[in-house]
Formats: sequence, C-alpha cells, structure tokens
Amino acid sequence: MSSIIHLNDIRKSYFMGNQAIPVLKGINLDIYKNEYVALMGPSGSGKSTLMNILGCLDSPTSGSYILNGKDVSKMADNDLAEVRNKDIGFVFQQFNLLPRLNAAENVALPLVYAGVAKKERIERAMEVLATHRNLLEMVKNGTFREDLYYRVLGLPIHLPALRERENDVLIIAKHFMDNFCKENNLPRKNLSTEAKKKLMGHAFPGNVRELKSVIDLACVMAEEKEIEAEHLNVMSQNMMSDFMLKEATLKEFTIKFIQFYLDKYNYDVLKVARKLDVGKSTIYRMIQNKEVFVNKKFSFEASFMN
Ligand SMILES: Nc1ncnc2c1ncn2[C@@H]1O[C@H](COP(=O)(O)OP(=O)(O)OP(=O)(O)O)[C@@H](O)[C@H]1O
Ligand SMILES: [Mg+2]
Repeated sequence: MSSIIHLNDIRKSYFMGNQAIPVLKGINLDIYKNEYVALMGPSGSGKSTLMNILGCLDSPTSGSYILNGKDVSKMADNDLAEVRNKDIGFVFQQFNLLPRLNAAENVALPLVYAGVAKKERIERAMEVLATHRNLLEMVKNGTFREDLYYRVLGLPIHLPALRERENDVLIIAKHFMDNFCKENNLPRKNLSTEAKKKLMGHAFPGNVRELKSVIDLACVMAEEKEIEAEHLNVMSQNMMSDFMLKEATLKEFTIKFIQFYLDKYNYDVLKVARKLDVGKSTIYRMIQNKEVFVNKKFSFEASFMN
C-alpha cells in the first residue's frame, strides 16, 4: 500500500538576512490511509513549520514531499493553492468561520474556489448540514462525536412539525400562494372556507415542502380567484403513513420521491426539479450515481430494436 503522505529528507531553513537557520533537518515520514497522526514536540521544535509544509501552505528548502502520488515539494504557489482546495481539509483550532457568512455559506466556501456554481454549492452544504437524525441519541450510542456535537449544536431550536401548528398552515399557505402567483404573473388567489378546512384537517406528513407543492399545484388548477377544496391535491392519510412507516432513511425516501416524479413527468428533469423544489444538479447527480433512472421505458424498448 502506498502512503498518502510521503516525506523524504525534508529540510527547511528560515533566513535571517544571509544567515540560514535550519529548523527541519531531514524529516522522513510516511502516513497511510485511515491513519491518525499527532505531531508532538516542545515549543519551537518545528511542528507548525512541518504542518505548513504538509498542508501545502509552504514549501521545503529541500527534500521531496509526495502527497497522494503528486510531488508537491517544488510546486508554484498557484498549483499549491489548487492542491489545498482539492486534496486537503483543514480544521482550524479557532474554527475560523467568517462572521459575515451564514453557516451554509461557510461550509460552502471551499466550493467557491473549486468553481462550483452558487446553487449547487448551497445545496451541497445543506446536504452536509441538514439532518433529521437525533444527534444527541447518536452521541449517546457512540455513533457521533460528542465534541463535534457541541460544535454544530449552536443554539438548538426545536421546530414542531406543521401538523402540530395548525394555525400556521393557513399563514404559510398564503405566503406560498402569493409567491407562486407573483412569480408566475398570476392574479392573487384566496382559499375558500372549504379549502381552508381541508388544509387544517390534513396532517402534512411531508411538512412544509408538502404544503408548498399542494399550494403550487392548486394555484395552477384553480382558474378562478378562489382555490376550492377540490384543487387541493393532498395525499390520502393511509397511503402516506404506509410509506412513512417504512422507516427508510431520508435519502431513501428522497430517491423514491424523485423516481416517482421522474416517471410521472416523463423524465423531464427540469420539471421535476421545479415541482419538488430541488436543484436540477441534485437530480442529475442521482442519475449519474444510478440512484434514479430516466427513460426506463425508452431504453427497454431500444434494447428490442437493436
Ligand atoms: N518565519 C520565520 N522566520 C524565522 N524563524 C522562524 C519562522 N517561523 C518559525 N521560526 C523559527 O523556527 C523554529 C520552529 O518554529 P515552529 O513555529 O515551527 O515551532 P512549533 O513547534 O510549532 O512551536 P510551538 O509549539 O510554540 O507552536 C522556531 O525556532 C521559530 O522561532
Ligand atoms: Mg506551532
């Protein structure tokens, strides 16, 4: 097995005027995949100097450093910056979060330098940050690091599910209605009394996202100003709870949802992305990873034609 980090006779001197002060005097080190390594030594022994070289923040005076198969010891600053961006993760003692950015933007920051488009950056950061799991439980059973738990915890806010906030349903529904109509240049719409009752009576297992797709669809379906109960296409309680009882992970549910809508909308990725309010790149990634399939029928028929 080849090492991820291979140092051969690494030397580093600092110069005070013409005077070279040797700090690292021939370091040989191999670090393999999955190894955890701590650098220890008295103050001034050169730990930070070595870490700067390992992190491609500085170059050695001589010797070679092979990182993941690439010789980085003689790379120019620009190339080192690229390696730092693509191959190295830094965790700073002080966290070094940028205060003017929110949590998702901070997490997405390395993707800015990697040239990933804004929408995809935020989506990917949100995937990392969002979890429906009970982290405290995971800490208790040893599957989530306790120190990390307190770092991500910040100020926990327990937001009750929509079904526990009946009165909010109408307020949020109105917000979605207004937004949808504005974005699509439709005249503003109202909910009829029966429509309100239907919304209040529904448990919204899919939470706010479900409410949004129900409302968006209703705005299209209702030709008049008033949205009637019949325009509200809420899923039947049993069908939904059967589905939810499967106890799949959020990812497995997502795959099922996206596949369902891809089939329904004839594999029109853009339409599915709009309907479900997810980024199209997320769907394309799932297609690429073969988590969902497009044009099942087509490829089936095509295989007969060949
Ligand atoms: N930019 C520099 N110019 C000149 N000398 C330097 C420079 N940076 C570090 N040194 C010297 O190199 C030696 C190693 O310093 P380094 O910061 O790598 O030690 P360290 O092991 O990280 O120490 P500490 O535990 O205090 O952080 C020290 O003698 C320090 O004074
Ligand atoms: Mg140091």
